Parts: sequence; structure tokens; C-alpha cells
Amino acid sequence: MGDPTNPSSGPAQRAEELRAELRRHEHLYYVLDAPEITDAAYDALMNELKRIEAAHPELLTPGSPTQRVGGKPAEGFQKVRHSRPMLSLDNAYSAEELAAWDRRVRALAGPRPGAGFGSEIVEMEDEQAWDEIRRESVSSLPVEYMAELKLDGLSVALHYEAIEGGGARLARGITRGDGQTGEDVTSNIRTIRSVPLTISADCLKKASLPPTFEVRGEVVMPEAAFLRLNEEREQQGLPPAVNPRNAAAGTLRTLEPGIVANRRLVFFAYFLLVNGDYLEQGQRATLDTLAVLGFRVNPHRKLVASLEEMTQFIDQAETERATLGYEIDGVVLKVDSHATQLRLGYTGRAPRWAIAYKFTAKSGITQVREITVQVGRTGKLTPVAELAPVFIGGTTVSRATLHNADFIERLGLLVGDWVRVERGGDVIPKVVEVIADAGHPRGTQAFQFPTQCPECQSEVVRTEGEVDYRCVNADCPAKLRESLLHFGRREVMNIEGLGEAVVQQLLDRGLVHSVADLYALTTEQLAALDRFAEKSAHSLFEEIKKSKRAGLARVLMGLGIRFVGERTAELLAREFGSIGVLERATTEELERVEEVGPRISQAILEFFAQPANQALIESLATAGVDMTAEKKRRSSQLAGLTFVLTGTLPTLTRDEAKRRIEAAGGKTAGSVSKKTSYVVAGEEAGSKLDKALELKVPVLDEAALLALLAGPMAEE
Ligand code: IVH
Repeated sequence: MGDPTNPSSGPAQRAEELRAELRRHEHLYYVLDAPEITDAAYDALMNELKRIEAAHPELLTPGSPTQRVGGKPAEGFQKVRHSRPMLSLDNAYSAEELAAWDRRVRALAGPRPGAGFGSEIVEMEDEQAWDEIRRESVSSLPVEYMAELKLDGLSVALHYEAIEGGGARLARGITRGDGQTGEDVTSNIRTIRSVPLTISADCLKKASLPPTFEVRGEVVMPEAAFLRLNEEREQQGLPPAVNPRNAAAGTLRTLEPGIVANRRLVFFAYFLLVNGDYLEQGQRATLDTLAVLGFRVNPHRKLVASLEEMTQFIDQAETERATLGYEIDGVVLKVDSHATQLRLGYTGRAPRWAIAYKFTAKSGITQVREITVQVGRTGKLTPVAELAPVFIGGTTVSRATLHNADFIERLGLLVGDWVRVERGGDVIPKVVEVIADAGHPRGTQAFQFPTQCPECQSEVVRTEGEVDYRCVNADCPAKLRESLLHFGRREVMNIEGLGEAVVQQLLDRGLVHSVADLYALTTEQLAALDRFAEKSAHSLFEEIKKSKRAGLARVLMGLGIRFVGERTAELLAREFGSIGVLERATTEELERVEEVGPRISQAILEFFAQPANQALIESLATAGVDMTAEKKRRSSQLAGLTFVLTGTLPTLTRDEAKRRIEAAGGKTAGSVSKKTSYVVAGEEAGSKLDKALELKVPVLDEAALLALLAGPMAEE
């Protein structure tokens, strides 16, 4: 037996290999955005390393990829002083302002008359002195600027320190704070995969850097992560996060590194400091060096030398803005030459050698005429600002959501106030601030949240610990209207043609009193609706009929049980197989289902306890709505087997194949390992097939898969 800490022997060597491999994949995925393997394959490598480290704790290193999520800071975050202040940037809002800045930089970039310049940083508060210099300067000098995106996140400083053997490790991550002092959020920063935990001696050598240095940059939350976060928050009955920047900031201050790891924050590096100084080689070289060190550096960057080139870069950034996957709010221009930066120096709060060109937000100022309240499907009351119509970014906006009572309070909004309304890409317009100045007098009337439902006048309730008020009347007409609309949605029962106009007419004519009544509608009744031709009446009728076969998961979603969204409905359907079994399930049985906790289980129990809901289920059953899930019947057939799909199958889509395997109790995985039971290969199967052959995993074609699914399974 060899010494396990000796890298040439088994586990130690394997651990080192795995670490190198994981770091390489993290870099490919999180920094270069060019993954080579699936998430599942990455997880498999990670799990192998975790197992080795668990069995051989002596092999564990703090820089190991397994150590991204470590202990949480015991008593909140420590305040730390920055090595040098993290300054802010001056803004330009128009081409004119940018041109003025450019002129000024060029004028000041020349040698300052009468003063010898070393490499010290010029702190010059007195703007007048600079104006004098400008007047004295004979001609304007050529200056190059590094144009970068202005990422809409929060800036952090990362300190690296020497480690034994010559590399560097992340020692500390600090938020900007007030610019002088920030908070030590190292444990959270470590979870960000685009932040290297260690940097090899080799890399440092390539970058000609000492092992102690500081990297500054921006932490952002990608849009996908932001949307997912808000979905989760909605499911938990929490108000949505307002924007990715706030969400990123909130996340970095979370005391639970595990949560931070799940949020998939991204770090883009843009400054490098050695001994508190920027690199002498300038900004362009700084960014290139950061990339060599393994940091993610935003690829949208360019050296520009004229106002025209700046404007071109800005225009392009504005065009690409919508497809970046993360938010930007402008472009930053930095004088490239370090020597020139030193000449220009700083004002108290910002460098003179950089400026932020801010995109004009798609916003407008208008008056809140009224605040109304909308009732949703679950009875949730949402306040809405009714605005004097205002033209923003190509459309007229006359309503904006106010989320909940707390939001109104935070804004300090009164009816009659003037407000700024913003419209981002495709989102609902939002009120961002109250404008109160000479031209915009304050409103006078505070908004009172109604104590009665605006649609049915029944009592409104706010549950302890929740932000939302709800109408608790099960027969509230608004709830019924919203429930019908929800029921027909594509992701739910998928009834095409059941839109707002139709639903409203069905209600007005007293034709439906619950979603079950949809199934009793006749083509004649439908054809009698306004603007309904016989043909569309017939197709809606067929759509409704077809939806009877949608299956348990969709019905569960359609019933509108609180917290039961797509995924939970799917898991419940799979576990219980029929509504009858689910109805009788106990708390314990419910909570045995993955992802079902006390809140969801209670919501389910409460739902089924209501006589009205039992009656509804009864009516749906009578109408012939299928409330079983195929899964239960055959759920054990492929139990314990893991399948990997690759290539194009002749008849089944990837999703169908996956669904059917899972319906039969099998699992599907993204990559082939020794644990894979079968690889199902279709046309143009790639590396997974090779891997299967290499590991001698049996390979099936579609026909063989279908045979297996049709069962019965032969006993081995
Ligand atoms: S340079 C002293 N570069 O914008 C220079 N900042 O409005 C300050 N930001 O606090 C930072 N993208 O949080 C720089 N490419 C970029 C940036 C950037 C976003 C943020 C940063 C800064 C704020 C200033």
C-alpha cells in the first residue's frame, strides 16, 4: 500500500486529477462559456472527488472545487477596509456629454506644464486648476480608450495570496460597501464558479504577476437565474425580487453559502491591482492578463480611439443588450494608458480617466390617477397603478403593477403622485420612484388596502408572515374567471381558444360556475357566443373534449392548489397515480414526495378538505376527465435502471423517450458512466455512444427500448 498523500499513489493522484479536470471544466463552462461535458458528467466527477476526500480527509485542500460551499460566517459579515477606495464613475447621458468628456481628457492628457510627474496618483479636488491646465494645453493629444460594457451588478474586490508551491489562492472577497469599507463575503464569493479559488504558479508566471494581488469586478445574476429565483419565490408566496442587481446584492449578503451556490452568480473581472496600483501596461493589457489568470472577462470590449468609434461601440452594445443573458445599463470608457490615467487623476469620488455612458432607460414620468386592486386566481389581491397614459419605448403605458401593500409603502406612494415608470425589454411596466419636485407636486391621498374584495365584497385576509392580502370567498367571480383562464393555459389543460373574451361571455351568460362546467358546454351554446362562427365553436368544443385526457399532473395544476406548480404536480402525480389516492394521502405520505415540505403538504390537505373542492373533483370525474397518471401502473418496470439517450431516434423525440422511461420508473442521465444501465442510441449518436462501447454499457436502439417499455421484463 502506498502513502495516500503521495501524489503518485492511487487516491491522492486521482483526487489531483479530478481537481484539475473539474477546474478545467469550471473554466470552460463559467469563464469561457464553452462547456465540453454535461452538467451530469460534471456532477459525477465532483461526486467522485467528494467520495475520495471523504474517505481520505488528509487529501482535502481548501482550494479544492468541492470546497466552494464551506462553513457560513458565524456572526454575519466582518467590515473590511479596502486597499484603496472603490470609487464610482461619472456619468454621461448623451453623445454631447461624452464628447465634452473626451475633449477634456485629451486636453488634460498632455504633459502638465511645470510639474514633474512620477508614478504617484494625482488627487486633485480643485476642478478650477484643471480648467487652467486645459486652457494652457496647446493641442489635444491622441488618446485610446478601452470600451467595456457597464454590467448591472455590484462590484467586489477579491484578494489573492501566495500559497506554498508558488501559486495563489483566493483569500478574501469584499463587497464595495461605501467605497472605503466593505463586507467580507468570502464564503459566498467562493461559491461563484467563475471565481478561481486557486491560481497555479504557471499561470502567474505567464501573467508575470506576483502571488499577492487584488482583482476587482462585477458580480451579476444572469437573467435565467433571476427568472428561476422569482418563480421559486412565487411558489413560496414571497414577493418577487425587483431586478437582477438587487437579487445579486441580496444573494451576496445571504448567510447560507449553499443558497448562494444555487443562484448561479457570475463574476466578470475588470481591474487588477498589485500593491494597490493598477497595471502599468494599461487597461487593455489588464483585461488580457485577467483572462490569462482564468477570470471571466467580458468579451464585448474594444480599444477605441475616436468619438465615432465610441458611439459605434455604444450602438452595438445597445443592440446586443437584449441577447446577452445578463443586464447592462451602459458602456464604460476607460483611458487605456496607465501614464495618462495618472496624469488625469481623480476627483473625490471618481476617476477623471473613466466615464459611464448610461443608456437612456426606457422610462417616463406620469401621474398616478388611481390605485385599483386586481383579484387573481388564488384570491391574491394585487394593487395596480392606473396611470395617465405615457409613451415609453414605443408603447403607451397606462397601468403598472405595484406588487403588494409593502411595495407601495416602500415607495411612499400617494394617489395623485407623479412617478417614474420603467419598461424593460418584455416585462410589465413598473413604478420605480415617486418624483417630488417643484414641477411635480405630491399627491394627497394615501392608499388604503381594501378590507373587502373589490369583486365580491367578501372579507380580505392577510395571513401572518405573508405580504399578500387574499379574498377568501371560494365563489368569488374574479377567482372563477382567473381559474378558467388558468385551466385553459397551454401548460395546464391546453384548451386553445379559451381566452379572456370567451371566458367573460361564458360567465356573463351564466353558462359555467366551475371549471367542470366547461365539459357540459354544447357546440350550440358556444356558437351562440358573440363573434363565434360555427367552425370556431366546434374547434373549441373539440379542444375541451381533448383536454379530458390531459392526465393527473395537468389536472392538479388546473385545480389551482396553492404552491402546486408544474413540477410539484408532476411529482405528486407520479407518486400517487390517481386523484383518489392523493386525496386520502396523509401529511407524512405527502412529505415523502421529493420537494414537498410542510407548506405544500398543508396546502394540499386544506384543498382536499374543502367540500367545494371535493364536489369539483367529483364533477370532473363525472365529466370523464382522466385523473390518473400512467406512471403508477408501471412505475416499477424499469426501476433501478438508468438510461442515457443520444442521437436522434426514428419516431420518439428525446423528451418523449425520457418521459416514457421515467413513467416506467427508470431514470435518465446526461452522461455515460459505469452506472449507466443502457445507452439508447439513435442516428448521429456522438461521444456518448463511444463512451458506452468503451465502458461496455449495453446499447439499445429505439425498437429495443420500446420492447423493454412494453415489458414484461425478463428476470435475470
Ligand atoms: S470601473 C473606479 N468597469 O459601475 C472605477 N465599473 O457606476 C469604477 N460597473 O461601481 C469601476 N461595469 O459597480 C467599471 N466595466 C466596468 C463596469 C463597472 C459595471 C459598475 C461598478 C461601479 C459602477 C459605477
